[in-house]
Amino acid sequence: MSRNEALQPRHELGMVGLGVMGRNLLLNMAEHGFPVAGFDQDPAKVEALRTEGQGMDLAPAQDLASMLALLRTPRAVMLLVPAGAPVDAVIGELVALLQPGDLIIDGGNSHFKDTDRRAAELAGKGLGFLGMGISGGEEGARRGPSLMPGGSAEAYQRVRPLLEAVAAQAGGEPCVAHVGPGSAGHFVKMVHNGIEYALMELIAESYDLMKRGLGMDNAGIRQAFLGWNQGGAGGYLMEITARIFARRDTRGGQDLIDAVAGVARQKGTGMWTSGSAMELQVPAPTIDLAVAQRDLSALDRQREQAGLLLPRATGLHRHEGDRGVFLVFLGQALQAGMVMAFAQGMALLGAASERYGYRLDLATVARIWRGGCIIRTPLLEDIRAAYGRQAGLANLLLDPELARMVLAREEGLRSVVAAGTRLALPIPGLMSALAYLDGYRSAWLPANLIQAQRDCFGAHTYERVDMPGRFHTEWEGE
Ligand code: 6PG
Repeated sequence: MSRNEALQPRHELGMVGLGVMGRNLLLNMAEHGFPVAGFDQDPAKVEALRTEGQGMDLAPAQDLASMLALLRTPRAVMLLVPAGAPVDAVIGELVALLQPGDLIIDGGNSHFKDTDRRAAELAGKGLGFLGMGISGGEEGARRGPSLMPGGSAEAYQRVRPLLEAVAAQAGGEPCVAHVGPGSAGHFVKMVHNGIEYALMELIAESYDLMKRGLGMDNAGIRQAFLGWNQGGAGGYLMEITARIFARRDTRGGQDLIDAVAGVARQKGTGMWTSGSAMELQVPAPTIDLAVAQRDLSALDRQREQAGLLLPRATGLHRHEGDRGVFLVFLGQALQAGMVMAFAQGMALLGAASERYGYRLDLATVARIWRGGCIIRTPLLEDIRAAYGRQAGLANLLLDPELARMVLAREEGLRSVVAAGTRLALPIPGLMSALAYLDGYRSAWLPANLIQAQRDCFGAHTYERVDMPGRFHTEWEGE
């Protein structure tokens, strides 16, 4: 192709932001035969794309206007820039250069409320907008991510062939679907990340139980993770965990995991999920505690001080029972905990769908999470099947098959939580998963006392079990 031909306005999509995700997704598109263009305000990233895209139908651009000039009309521009102010800044620049009918796709981890605001602002200017969750990290972007686009269905149809081509495939189906209108795509991605936090916390707790509870070494721990990855608790996160435990530190003779500081950082999507669950009054305790544990991990100085002042009780430092049995129970606990994390996340999606009018099909959400994304796991097949049996399922725990799966693992979860408590190891993810199960299946809860207390101190009234209406009692006296 001559240089002039390459510069014709025939490119399918322009990418703004050539960081790890933008660059790799663009290379993925080009590799699938879609001519695409890319721009980044950092010239080094434009050069890196030029080098990596050698031999592909891919045009790196020196500025935004020249990238837009390469796109066939109506134009489609994707943003992969950091969430927040950078997204608004790029949209501001684009608005001045685009024409009505053009489409902007925000592929970052934007907050769904920002997405709603941007969609409304852009609609007023005649511009289309899709808020699209993308999961899978660098490898996913390059080889096939899970894509969660939300916004107008017509806008989605325009880019559908491109998105279906680059998405991961699972069971012969692309891991992409129009998930719903407005900010549905970014909401679904946010909840994906909330579940991701919960699963990571559960796996980290199982590591602690093996390391400090059973005194296992890294090689043994790796074997356990490898084994569970073959079973019901398997999935991408379990797979990379086993990989991590095999890695030696190139800076020293130890295993790399032992050189990594125990302070978990975060970009905020887990916190958003928890905040949103609170706002919609959907219990999501395993996600909440996963966020809290990351926050606790960051208090490393305080934890050191507290460890001296409040040492773990002596004599309780090792699990005394049979190690093999404990590991079987731990695998069961992990699988049950995973079901709880998904149950909480999916219940939140259900509530958000009603509140925000997303019209989510949760079977479809489960389907597009089966490949490409960070939380992919064979369990999602069971989850998809559950919604297939009953589309309006209020909670995954109400599905008879999943309920059976959980009941069969309850003893494991309960034994592990009991052991962790005795050993004074912090396992709030597993504990919350068990408490969620025990609470959710409890037809009676002591909330009658909370109601009575509220009425006693604040005349908030209460409902009775034996007749309709609201009642108040003067609790003073008698
Ligand atoms: C994904 C990841 C991705 C990213 C998270 C990390 O689905 O590919 O979720 O979006 O790794 O933003 O989040 P934290 O920095 O908050 O852990």
